[in-house]
Amino acid sequence: MKNIAVLASGYGSNLQAIINAIKNKKIKNAKIALVISDRADAYALVRAKKHSIPFLYINPEDYKYRTSYDCEVVKELQKHKIDLVVLAGFMRIISPCFIRAYHNKIINIHPALLPAFKGTDGIGDALSYGVKVTGVTVHFVDEKMDNGAIILQSAVLIKETDTKESLAKKIHKLEHKLFPRAIKLILEGKIRLCGRKVKVML
Ligand code: GRF
Repeated sequence: MKNIAVLASGYGSNLQAIINAIKNKKIKNAKIALVISDRADAYALVRAKKHSIPFLYINPEDYKYRTSYDCEVVKELQKHKIDLVVLAGFMRIISPCFIRAYHNKIINIHPALLPAFKGTDGIGDALSYGVKVTGVTVHFVDEKMDNGAIILQSAVLIKETDTKESLAKKIHKLEHKLFPRAIKLILEGKIRLCGRKVKVML
């Protein structure tokens, strides 16, 4: 049994997709052992509670430095014997000590086709740039933002009639398929890292 931790700052629809994938056995031999949020009002915490998943709100204001906050997070992850850390809308930059503690065991989902449109508004930035195709990226987390090796990507066509809301809807729908798929592949040992390239062994 592998233990997953999900870190989320907001609505937690990706957390929900992972909960569902475990429930209906798309992801096997795994459980979400911990949900952590940096926001007390994150709906992700409500979802964790509803599904009897242990959850923690760790308040950044209680820590003077990013590294001391991250040390606390790592302490909790170790306490819960976490094998894979899933960042699902966790709106904080992760410090090197955290990345070293979970080397190649932290993954993130980004709502654009990296390396395009890094940052906090991947959907809005792609739309206002005028690209015709955008999408979703699941990647390993390294010390630079939205930079680590790409595990899976999937594309979405942007129509002239799309608004930020309609595009976000399409992106989120895709995220909810792609993230559980990536987690399943990792936990089944089907992901090999070769430099910054990821091989999927099917
Ligand atoms: C997602 O769009 C994800 O790509 C980004 O943050 C958003 C989180 O959404 N990193 P939710 O909280 O999972 O609904």
